[in-house]
Amino acid sequence: MTDRLRIGDVKLRNRLLLAPLVDVSDLPFRIICRRAGAAMAYVEMLNISAILHSNRNAQSLLRTSVEDSPSGVQITGRTVGEFERVVPHVEKFDVVDINCGCPSIKITENGSGSFLLRNPEKIGGMIKALKDAGVTATAKIRLGFSENNVLRVARAVERAGADAITVHARLAKHGSDVPADWKWIEKVKKSVGIPVIGNGDVRDGPSAEKMLDIADGAMIARAAIGDPLVFDRILHYLKKGREKEFDARRNMEIFVDYLEMEREGTADVGKVKRVGSKFIRGFEGAAKARDELMKKKSYEEINSLVARLMENKPV
Ligand SMILES: Cc1cc2nc3c(=O)[nH]c(=O)nc-3n(C[C@H](O)[C@H](O)[C@H](O)COP(=O)(O)O)c2cc1C
Repeated sequence: MTDRLRIGDVKLRNRLLLAPLVDVSDLPFRIICRRAGAAMAYVEMLNISAILHSNRNAQSLLRTSVEDSPSGVQITGRTVGEFERVVPHVEKFDVVDINCGCPSIKITENGSGSFLLRNPEKIGGMIKALKDAGVTATAKIRLGFSENNVLRVARAVERAGADAITVHARLAKHGSDVPADWKWIEKVKKSVGIPVIGNGDVRDGPSAEKMLDIADGAMIARAAIGDPLVFDRILHYLKKGREKEFDARRNMEIFVDYLEMEREGTADVGKVKRVGSKFIRGFEGAAKARDELMKKKSYEEINSLVARLMENKPV
């Protein structure tokens, strides 16, 4: 078992990746996860039409930096032509991933996201459009839209020249309460020669180790929200066979770094509070502190609340 992962020419320092996360995985969030050990982190799903129409939010989410390197962005769209046109806007990223898993009706009614799973050849066309333009291209898929056709989709993705595939082992209609069915990740691994990144329910050292026995990489989503040090704990476990304790103080320090970066990037306070409330955990009074956070109206107010928490003062 190697401890590295390679996606095309892009070499990753370990096999743990942060998933694309709408309203979460902007540049500051990716940076704190990278510092905690994630080998790569994807920008959340961006709609190609928003990118092509120079939508302000999309433009700001397309920011990257040296610390974000190697970098990844995830896009979705409806037609192969859109994928050809979007290349100049995303080619600064080392890896471009196609979202074929988003179940949101807003996305699927437009023929994008998980709706694409109904048409594996179309996904292949999108991959090919990126590959022909010289882009390192991957796809993140689910097991199927309503029926499981994961092997067909995975083979079409590989045939089109993709550099890796991520399998979120649920159908599009499944919520996160349905356990991810990892045996399909194993089957995909046996069916294709490109690197397979497994996703769904990796949350700690033992689950990551199990996923890495099956797949070439493990992608983590929910477990990293408000707990970027999950990467550090998993890497420790993979090395030493035992996990580190959750470190609430260190987590709050990371929250402070996150806040500072978000403030520089002028992210809206509502978003920072939603993501930020997940960091406030693992200590007495955390529930009350989360409620207090949600009442704050500015970065100044949030910062003074966090300062009090760091000094163990009541809020
Ligand atoms: C808040 C949130 C936002 C998400 N946004 C995206 C996204 O932009 N693109 C995507 O492919 N999946 C997205 N997902 C799905 C995750 O990337 C991942 O596939 C899923 O949560 C399963 O992994 P987990 O068990 O580690 O959470 C999102 C999930 C959550 C909870």
